[in-house]
Amino acid sequence: MDKNLKLPSHIAIIMDGNGRWAKKRNMPRAFGHKQGAKSVRAITTACAELGVKYLTLYAFSTENWKRPEQEVGFLMKLLSDYLDKETKTLIKNNVRLMTIGEIDMMDPHLCKKLKDVKKLTSKNTGLKLVLALNYGSKREITRAVRSIAADVKNKKIRVSDINEELISKRLYTAGIPDPDLLIRTSGEIRVSNFLLWQIAYSEIYVTDVLWPDFGKNNLMLALEEYSSRERRYGGIKAK
Ligand code: FPP
Repeated sequence: MDKNLKLPSHIAIIMDGNGRWAKKRNMPRAFGHKQGAKSVRAITTACAELGVKYLTLYAFSTENWKRPEQEVGFLMKLLSDYLDKETKTLIKNNVRLMTIGEIDMMDPHLCKKLKDVKKLTSKNTGLKLVLALNYGSKREITRAVRSIAADVKNKKIRVSDINEELISKRLYTAGIPDPDLLIRTSGEIRVSNFLLWQIAYSEIYVTDVLWPDFGKNNLMLALEEYSSRERRYGGIKAK
């Protein structure tokens, strides 16, 4: 690896463009998602090899339920197949699977499978692969506010105890450091209800490449760009 390359500890990705990738080939959207799952494999392996500590992938949002039933069903099946086929590789590569979002509201079989794989890989010490599933940042923050309000009401905490650290601990991402780098594919420049609290100081990298075409070479370009950025966190340039 290039020694000038700064490796982010946590990379978060908004995987976008599966539908457009398929449309360009006159194929159904499902074909794009299937190809997108291949990019998930390639990027997970690349991150594990590079020594990235956390990779968070936006796989299904709270808004994605609005898609046609058939497409939602296909995405769920794809995820289920991914777990069936990939678990061995995750174990081999010392990857730990985690999730953020409300998986209990998903199909019970899929939910059980996710919980099983999370348990099976829970001792793995390499890359943490965090899948955002039925995830919405506004819902996550609302949940946190409710739980804090309930604790104040029950006198478990005082209003003056509420600080940034406490709020972070009530999010799905409790214990996971904030992303250093947020990547969005397919050229759309928005955050789409993803990790709104956690990306306060993340570097954002948007590429026109569609997710099914996003491979290790594209990841390396993102890392080169990240390495050239100066992170000031609101401060001034270090001398
Ligand atoms: C966005 O493309 C992609 C999604 C909403 C789903 C992401 C799912 C995958 C990459 C496949 C499987 C995932 C795993 C973890 C195995 P889009 O459909 O919004 O594309 P478009 O904007 O071009 O229509």
